[in-house]
Amino acid sequence: MDGGFDETTPMILVVDDTPANLGVVVDCLESHRLRVTIARDGAEALSRAALSQPDLILLDVMMPGIDGFETCRRLKAQDSTRDIPVIFMTSLTQTEEKVVGFQAGAVDYVTKPLQVEEVAARVNTHLKLRTLQKLQLTHNARLRDEIETRKRAEAELTEMMHSVRNVSNAIAHDLRTPLAELRSRLESLAVMRPAPEETFGEVEAALADVDRVIAIFNALLRLAEIDAGIRQAGFVDADIGDLVSDAGEFYLPVAELRGLSLSVACVGDLRRVADHLLIAQAVGNLIDNALKFTPPNGTIHVAAQRNADGSISISVSDNGPGIPERDRHKVTGRFYRGDASRGTPGVGLGLALVAAVATLHGGSVAFTDNQPGTTATLLLGATQGARVS
Ligand SMILES: Nc1ncnc2c1ncn2[C@@H]1O[C@H](COP(=O)(O)OP(=O)(O)O)[C@@H](O)[C@H]1O
Ligand SMILES: [Mg+2]
Repeated sequence: MDGGFDETTPMILVVDDTPANLGVVVDCLESHRLRVTIARDGAEALSRAALSQPDLILLDVMMPGIDGFETCRRLKAQDSTRDIPVIFMTSLTQTEEKVVGFQAGAVDYVTKPLQVEEVAARVNTHLKLRTLQKLQLTHNARLRDEIETRKRAEAELTEMMHSVRNVSNAIAHDLRTPLAELRSRLESLAVMRPAPEETFGEVEAALADVDRVIAIFNALLRLAEIDAGIRQAGFVDADIGDLVSDAGEFYLPVAELRGLSLSVACVGDLRRVADHLLIAQAVGNLIDNALKFTPPNGTIHVAAQRNADGSISISVSDNGPGIPERDRHKVTGRFYRGDASRGTPGVGLGLALVAAVATLHGGSVAFTDNQPGTTATLLLGATQGARVS
C-alpha cells in the first residue's frame, strides 16, 4: 500500500481477519514490488474485489461471517470478479478441505503458518498464468473478429458473383430478341428484295431494333462507369430545379399523347454540385415509368425540394398500379421487370440507374404508396460546403 507503484504493477487483495497474518503477507508481497489492498472479512472482500479489480486474491478460510469458501463461491458467481484467480491460505491440511477449496473455484492454496517466500513464488506464478490467459483471450477475440470479417467478405463476393452471372445471362437474353429480329428483317430484305416503298417500313423497324440494342448498351455502360467511379469527374454546379423542370417539359407531349396530366413543382434554391446529365437521366427514368405504367386519365406529379438537413428530394408520384411492398426492394435490381411491366417496352435497367445515381450523390431511392399508385423519391445527400452560393 505504499506509493511508487504505477497502474501496471499487479495488485493483490489479501483477505484475513488476523492482523498479524495480514502484516506478514503484506510485507512479503510489497517487498516483491506488488501493490496490496486488504479486507478483514468475506463481505468486505466481495465489495473490495468488485471495486478495485485486483489481479489476484489471497483468501483466508476461517473467518467470522462469510467464510473463505463461501466468499470464493460468491466471487465466482459474479461477472465482475469471476476471472480473478483466488489462492486460499489455510491451516487445514486435510485433503477434503483442499478439495472444497478447488471446488469453490480456487486455483491454488498455501498452508499456514505461511512460508513467505513460497507465498510470493505462488503468487508470481499465478500472476504470470493470468497474464498469459488474458493475452490468449484477446488473441482469441481478435481471431474470432477476423473470421467474421472474412466470412462476411466471402458472402459478399459470392453474392456479387451471382449477380454478375445473372446480369450476364439477362444481357444475353435481352440482346438476343432485337438482334434476332434485326437479322430476320435484313435477311428478308436481302432475299425478297421488295419494292422501295415496302423497304422503308422494314428499314424503320430495323432501326428501332438497333436503337433498342444501343439503349441497353448505353444503360449498361453508364452503370459500369458509375460502378468504376469514373462519373465523379462529371460533377458540376447544377440547378436541380431547372433540370427537373426541363425533364417535365420534355415529357409533356408524351403525357398528352397518352391522355395523362403531368405537373411539376420545384421549391426553393435547389443548386448543388452534381452530375447533372446523370440526374436528368434518372429523373427521366422515373417519369418514364410513371407515364408507362399509369393508365389513361391518370395524373403524374413531379416535385423537388430541399430538406432541413440540406439534402434534396425529387419525387415522382403517379396513380397507376403501384409497386407491391414485397417487390420494392427488387425493382432497382438490374434487368428486374415486375408485373406492371407486361406488354410495356423496357428492359428493367431504368431504376437500377436511378439507384446508382442516388448512391453516386450520397443519397438513396425509395418507393412509397401514393394510394393509389407509387411515389418514387430520389434523394440527393447533403453536400458539405459544396453548395453553390
Ligand atoms: N411507377 C411505377 N408503377 C408501377 N410499377 C413500377 C413503376 N416504376 C417501376 N415499376 C416496376 O419496376 C420495374 C423496374 O422498373 P425499371 O427498372 O424502370 O424497368 P422497366 O421500366 O424497363 O420495366 C418495372 O418493370 C415495374 O414492374
Ligand atoms: Mg423504366
